[in-house]
Amino acid sequence: MKDIVVNFTLNGRQCKKLVPANKTLLRFLREDMYINSVKEGCNEGECGACTVLLDGHPVNSCLVLAAELEGKTVLTVEGLTDDDRLHPIQEAFIEAGAVQCGYCTPGMIMSAVACLNLYGHPTREQIRKEMEGNICRCTGYTRIADAILLSVEKMDAIVAEQGADVAFRGIDKNFVEKWNASYEVK
Ligand code: FES
Ligand code: FES
Repeated sequence: MKDIVVNFTLNGRQCKKLVPANKTLLRFLREDMYINSVKEGCNEGECGACTVLLDGHPVNSCLVLAAELEGKTVLTVEGLTDDDRLHPIQEAFIEAGAVQCGYCTPGMIMSAVACLNLYGHPTREQIRKEMEGNICRCTGYTRIADAILLSVEKMDAIVAEQGADVAFRGIDKNFVEKWNASYEVK
């Protein structure tokens, strides 16, 4: 099968690569781009371990072909860290005890980013709904929801301390407006 040239953005970096037409985004990220956070679980769209954001939307990278990347933006956990600093969502997962074996965690965190982008201040029920495509064999899910709620508190505190210009990697650039708006509907 023919290889295809794709131009795309990965974690903020412009990339141009030749990809086999039948290679999944999951395998491409791990084998060609050295993005090891993206995990292979079921390989059939059921577990969420391979979740990345594609143009801001969570996708199971085992079900997407790398050849579809032309002009698109991919975000993985590697794109959330700022030099050596963890993202508030990552800190919250650690502090809330939402990480045990860690296999599901990168996918969970990317779905959490998508959840916060969607709701700003999600309720526990909204979190449950948005995270239902991510399976965890260890934690029992309560701590994962706790972690996402804690990450909201952390981000609120940072916005309050550092003002409206603060930005969190992976979070919608209209974050503060959405954040404030999400208070209004409560
Ligand atoms: S490995 Fe992609 S959903 Fe399970
Ligand atoms: S922490 Fe082990 S599968 Fe989720």
